[in-house]
Amino acid sequence: MPSSDQQSIHGQWSSRWTFIMAATGAAVGLGNIWKFPYLTGIHGGSAFVLIYILCVAALGIPMMMAEVMLGRRGRQTPVNTMRALAAENNASQGWQLIGWFGTFAGMLILSYYSVIGGWTLGYILHSVSGNFSGLNGNGASTLFGDFVGNPFVQVGWHTMFMIITMYIVARGVKSGLEKAVTYLMPALFVLLLVLVGYAMTTGYFMKGLDYLFTPDFSQLTGTSIHTAMGQAFFSLSLGMGTIMIYGSYVPKSTSIAGASIAIAVFDTMVALLAGMAIFPIVFANALEPGAGPSLLFETIPVAFGNMAGGTLFGTLFFVLLLIAAWTSSISLIEPAVTLMIEKFNMTRWQAAIWIGLATWLLGFGTAFSFNIWSEATVFEMTFFENLDYLTSNLMLPLGGIFIAVFAGWLMTKDNSQDELDMKSEVGYSIWRILIRFIAPIAVSIVLLHAIGVY
Ligand code: PHE
Repeated sequence: MPSSDQQSIHGQWSSRWTFIMAATGAAVGLGNIWKFPYLTGIHGGSAFVLIYILCVAALGIPMMMAEVMLGRRGRQTPVNTMRALAAENNASQGWQLIGWFGTFAGMLILSYYSVIGGWTLGYILHSVSGNFSGLNGNGASTLFGDFVGNPFVQVGWHTMFMIITMYIVARGVKSGLEKAVTYLMPALFVLLLVLVGYAMTTGYFMKGLDYLFTPDFSQLTGTSIHTAMGQAFFSLSLGMGTIMIYGSYVPKSTSIAGASIAIAVFDTMVALLAGMAIFPIVFANALEPGAGPSLLFETIPVAFGNMAGGTLFGTLFFVLLLIAAWTSSISLIEPAVTLMIEKFNMTRWQAAIWIGLATWLLGFGTAFSFNIWSEATVFEMTFFENLDYLTSNLMLPLGGIFIAVFAGWLMTKDNSQDELDMKSEVGYSIWRILIRFIAPIAVSIVLLHAIGVY
């Protein structure tokens, strides 16, 4: 029988605070600082931001509570957690597929995440070497173009990133995951504030704020709503079992609702701060807001290149971004690694090596998407763009629908009430309405529209 009085064989967080920091570490990453600003730019600014925030509040928070709840009750890898919970609630064993599906999505995401993580490594080197000093918008674009244009350089940094990820994963939850995050996350936050401070000096700060926050509904399309929703799942790490597995290490005494809200608020603040730092720089340097994946790497170097102490701060920024990416990449692969350990009796080291190798190889497709394969498109998208679309826009929301349906409809009310253990009766009722009706219906409507059903 599942019971959260037991512990996971893989370990347990030492406190509620470590859980919040670790889950925030998993959530805050390239998604907030690299992806959110560039998606906002592609989709024209404020309307996208507004929909994004709505998705986080109405779908993200209840979904996160559901995932933590399932994980804590199951206490195993998502596949086995779903198996145990299906049995507990007399549901079909087919629900295990949620676990398989999510585990696979995590590997797919990591394969491209690692390439972008490699960019942060490369940019640490650029910064230390003083390559940002005096840079203008054009110079930054050339620097980036040369960098991603070289397939060997791309594979090299991707390989480095993969090695540092799998090394930490191989060492396990206690020694590996916990230590780094508790003080490095706040440091990243402070550095983002410094960047926002710089953005204030560009003379374009108000224009940036206006772009981000004054709603312009003329920019709203089905695609931008779909992308904002997918980004909410991606940024909060929902729909694929990461939060479920982090939930499985949560002590019984932790309030799931409080922790979930804290994580979502923190994650959203980081994304908005990144936007507030980046867009004023974009406008001040006549850069293109809709530049796409290059946006962060073409703007931030300009800021540091023209700031006192820029080499030091720039290096620090990319180091902290690397760490944020690192804590997320660890969480992307944790479901696959624990699955290999539980299902195939591997040691943590063996599991990390096999899963790491497969993911690393797949990453070549993304590493080449910016150079030798940039013209090789399917559905008019590169390998990288297809992977990103498939995972963020389809797999995570789909996984989310199933998780919501299971938590809201198949898990008995007694069980979910017991596990969430909320002080407020009203709070529980709101959660239950959101998870039973709003989340599955809203996500389905957006997905069906995206695939052209209506
Ligand atoms: N949320 C992470 C980010 O924003 C990415 C991620 C997605 C991590 C899914 C784990 C699971 O960078």
